[in-house]
Amino acid sequence: MSFDLNSLVRENIRRLRPYSSARSEFAGSAEVFLDANENAFGSPAGNGYNRYPDPMQKKLKKSVAELKSVDPSQIFVGNGSDEAIDLLFRVFCEPGRDECIICPPTYGMYQVSADINDIAVTEVPLTSDFHLDVSAVLSAITETTKLIFICSPNNPTGNLMRHEDVKRIAEEFNGIVVVDEAYIDFAAEESVITELPNFPNLVVLQTFSKAWAMAGLRVGMAFASSEIISLMNRVKPPYNVSGIAQGAVLDAFEKQRDVEAWISKTLDERSRIVASLARFEFVLEIYPSDANFVLVRTTDAKAIYTFLVEEKIVVRDRSNVQFCAGCLRITIGTSEENDRLISALERFIEGA
Ligand SMILES: Cc1ncc(COP(=O)(O)O)c(C=O)c1O
Repeated sequence: MSFDLNSLVRENIRRLRPYSSARSEFAGSAEVFLDANENAFGSPAGNGYNRYPDPMQKKLKKSVAELKSVDPSQIFVGNGSDEAIDLLFRVFCEPGRDECIICPPTYGMYQVSADINDIAVTEVPLTSDFHLDVSAVLSAITETTKLIFICSPNNPTGNLMRHEDVKRIAEEFNGIVVVDEAYIDFAAEESVITELPNFPNLVVLQTFSKAWAMAGLRVGMAFASSEIISLMNRVKPPYNVSGIAQGAVLDAFEKQRDVEAWISKTLDERSRIVASLARFEFVLEIYPSDANFVLVRTTDAKAIYTFLVEEKIVVRDRSNVQFCAGCLRITIGTSEENDRLISALERFIEGA
């Protein structure tokens, strides 16, 4: 691999003089802040919310850096990891010219973000057991391929990709390999963050929306070389993560034990749901999951989905997604919610 970051970056981004906010220009201690046109009298929301938040989320990054054993300069914090996906397109892909590779069935936002940014998408389907088709991915690379998205554990199939497959692609590709680990906290294997020192072209996405239970706050992360992170920071909106969100995530680090307990409860419930679902005749296959959901192939996804909605239970109908005919994706809920699901499915059978 001959990786040259500079030559991958869009010309206009290389030339960009990023917006310099009041809060990023001043470093030091002051008592009177008349630099950012804020309302100095207070805030109806309380707690200093009349002031702009830290644009570079320094305190938050310090805690994340400790948790993930990386340097703070290797962390981007965004408005959900969806923001990081969009930024990667904007930093590296020239609209109307460049391409990315995705491996369906996979998370839908890669395609949507590519479409918004006018970037062509080459699809290299996963194999029949939902693993990466490494040689097909490598053969699909062209001179204008800038990004390859790998989702692990993959949404909607639930399984981890093999580390050796990810590493092989990162080794052979001169562009950016994005490994989306939104569900990694539910998996038994470790994150590929540990591979960052070996692969200057690797970007790992994680989020506080899943195991960390803060989807409503919108906080996601990207981990990469400090050079890649600095490019993302140049392009992001100055105050992309609110003060409330930064503060709440920092507070949540104190409750890591709760998070660990929920993860272990989720995994127990996942085994229970899988065992219960396996008894139903309409279930044709339950795919192995390393995440907090299971993909289930059924005889009639639409009928089951509609029946569950009448029972006030919503699952995700994935039957229109490539290679997922008949499939429902079911998130693991609380024991009570899962009991409700199983009883509703028993009623579905009785009415069938
Ligand atoms: C694989 C994957 N990546 C990223 C996201 C988005 O996460 P966030 O809430 O951090 O934007 C999701 C959300 O469902 C997801 O499934």
